[in-house]
Amino acid sequence: MSLDSNAPRFRVRPPANWINDPNGPFRWGDRYHLFYQYNPDAPVHTNVHWGHASSPDLVRWQHHPIALTPTPGGPDEAGCWSGCVVDDGGVPTAVYTGIDHQHTGLGTVCLARATDPADPALTGWKPLPSPVVPSPPAGLDVVMFRDPFVFRHAGHRWALVGAGHADGTPSVLLYDCDELTHWRFAGVFLDGDDPVAVAAFGDKAVGWECPQLLVTPGGDRVLLVSLWDGDPSGTGYLTGRLDPSPAHGLRFAPRTGGPLDHGRDFYAPAVLQEPERALMWGWSWESRGPGEAERAGWAGVLTAPRVLDVHADGTLRLRPAPELNALRAPEPFVTAPGSGTRLPDAYDLTVTARTVTTVRLGEELTLRIDPTVGGLTVQRAGRPAPVEVRVAGGAELNVRVLVDGSLYEVFADDRAMVTERVYRGPGDAPELTVTGPQSAVTAWELAGPTVN
Ligand code: FRU
Repeated sequence: MSLDSNAPRFRVRPPANWINDPNGPFRWGDRYHLFYQYNPDAPVHTNVHWGHASSPDLVRWQHHPIALTPTPGGPDEAGCWSGCVVDDGGVPTAVYTGIDHQHTGLGTVCLARATDPADPALTGWKPLPSPVVPSPPAGLDVVMFRDPFVFRHAGHRWALVGAGHADGTPSVLLYDCDELTHWRFAGVFLDGDDPVAVAAFGDKAVGWECPQLLVTPGGDRVLLVSLWDGDPSGTGYLTGRLDPSPAHGLRFAPRTGGPLDHGRDFYAPAVLQEPERALMWGWSWESRGPGEAERAGWAGVLTAPRVLDVHADGTLRLRPAPELNALRAPEPFVTAPGSGTRLPDAYDLTVTARTVTTVRLGEELTLRIDPTVGGLTVQRAGRPAPVEVRVAGGAELNVRVLVDGSLYEVFADDRAMVTERVYRGPGDAPELTVTGPQSAVTAWELAGPTVN
């Protein structure tokens, strides 16, 4: 039994080896299903399958057998890359990127159907032998093409696919797929030349991966993209509207946007649209030294589910799913500012700062909160630059920190999030110090059910 205090125990990850993107979060019957990019053989990114877990409540997770496996000689022979899961006439259907040995950047869109929709665990999946989209649309010089995301709008079913073009412009391509086995290209949904996108993300990305679209209870649309410049380089959101486009079908008209997560260890989020809310999980990669993941035998973890919405000014509203409160131990281990409290491996900490407040989470991580200007600084030992976040200033600023092993998820009010990885050395016994007499602090050890 390993006592790896860096290994998250409450978030979704396979017991060993490699995980990257969350895929196809999906509600079926009374369970949440969550799939993920998974190499079952080693903690490195190759030979990607779809791992699978499910939960009745977003806190107790159960592992299932691998859902998708590359088929030798098939369109996904080199990897079952990212995608989504939809209910296709009562049959849960994975819509995913097939990668063959010839075309690493240019995926195809493949389908796999659940073999027994009556099985609440959705254990069996059968891929269709041929892709439904065998190549990118002609005439657009597409050099990156992957990550289908299917959604409904105005009585029709549509799909987004992440793309990059030969001239270095990223885009999201739109398909009409009322019939899931028959896709028709319906134009460019949005590209990186859009001025709102340039203002929100700069112009560094050459491809937008993993496009996701959600609708808020107020009817706003939010488009999420993962910014790829040859390597993952951040995540972004745009809020806006869907406009009918006479030539094609739909176009996204963005209103405002910005970085989605301000941390350095967050990428490729996937969204579950529920009737009343949208949930999102992201991938947090390892940020430790070379060879350390191989030695530990595992790499990567999914974040906690976060609820996404939009404030009246069009900026993002986000917070941890309320279900996560069930993981708190019945009694908090900290209830007031002070120093010297030993921190457990996994905890949920809330700080209400009314004056400038410093929160030290061991030697490795320090938060500085300045409510007047709405400032949050996240400083990691050994990193030259801190992460600096600005939210609206006011009389107080609420910060919540979810820690599970080395995964740190920090939320500033319900306006900004910062995902970082922070590792403990052997024998480290980190202590909590909170300075700022006017601040309120409460922290609970996580004690609820784990992944099994
Ligand atoms: C994002 C991504 C996706 C791709 C998958 C491959 O992290 O690069 O674009 O489908 O990972 O594992």
